[in-house]
Amino acid sequence: DSLSERAFADALKSVARNLQLKQYVRQSAEWYPILLRAAERFVAGDVLERGLFCRDALDAQGYRTSLEYIGENTLTETECTQAFQEFSRLIEACSKGRPGTRISLDLSHIGLSVDEDLSYRHLEGLASQAEVAGLELVISMEESAKTNSILALHRNISARFTNVGITLQAQLPRTLEDLEQVLTYGSGTIRIVKGAYQEQEGQYIPRSETLTSRYIQMVDLCVQAGRAVSVATHDEPILRHMTRNEVYRGAAVEIEMLYGIRTDLAKQLKDDGFPVRIYLTYGEEWFLYLCHRIAEHPPNIYDAVTRSIAG
Ligand code: FDA
Repeated sequence: DSLSERAFADALKSVARNLQLKQYVRQSAEWYPILLRAAERFVAGDVLERGLFCRDALDAQGYRTSLEYIGENTLTETECTQAFQEFSRLIEACSKGRPGTRISLDLSHIGLSVDEDLSYRHLEGLASQAEVAGLELVISMEESAKTNSILALHRNISARFTNVGITLQAQLPRTLEDLEQVLTYGSGTIRIVKGAYQEQEGQYIPRSETLTSRYIQMVDLCVQAGRAVSVATHDEPILRHMTRNEVYRGAAVEIEMLYGIRTDLAKQLKDDGFPVRIYLTYGEEWFLYLCHRIAEHPPNIYDAVTRSIAG
């Protein structure tokens, strides 16, 4: 039932954030390689080079790609600056390869949990470097307590750069209004997701047909406004709706799916001629990412374990 599913997801997310456990996994010569191998079902690896390697493999198969250096809620200025430097290295590396890799990031990874100005300065530096390299940045959306700040920072950066997109969560009741606002400024891609965060009861729209129709309504608003939109979901009915309606073909609509999830569907959609982008992550926080994917969809634990044993 949904209560115990929620309890399971919450427990896993606490495990993911447990600092002692994180230290232990990092230092354990025994567990690190086994768990990393399991995580590689969903994560490119622990270092940038692995991210680039997987990106090239996907590129050769005809997918577009997004790359993220995993992290969130960084709590010291030094760590935020280190994250900024790693993103800078990522942009530098992507500027040399084939064009088109999108860089994704959480603002709380580069400073939002310390100081808004710090995250803005870091965002500005990355947007400027990406602009020169002809690359696009897309800001992820975090829990609802941060929505106002994230939207405000996106609005400010959009006044200076055209290459910064934003993610919006269909599950929040406020999002239709936020979308109307976002459509009035900037020109970056709008990525629509259902929403991954466990919000308070009554503060979000649960997975349902109502949520599906809201999701499609948001995509339609972007299409009508002529704005580039990323349909970031693995929900087959939504994706079939996109590919069956001519209105979405030729418009600036693409499908974006997480690496390792519903790869069968991603391939079908790509082979059917729809642009499909795969969202790839890498970094030393792969353990956090693995726990999130399992919390979202518990059967993933079997896939991860099988991969680890096979490896
Ligand atoms: P839903 O959760 O209804 O799942 C539909 C079907 O997809 C499931 O029945 C299952 O078959 C499959 N599926 C979904 N998740 C799976 C998993 N983990 N493993 C295996 N199968 C799975 N969220 C957020 O709050 N802020 C953000 O910035 C982002 N960014 C982002 C970028 C991209 C490219 C994607 C694809 C997703 C995000 N998300 C996100 C996550 C998003 O909000 C959502 O939690 C996940 O996409 C899962 O929801 P679906 O839309 O797939 O639908």
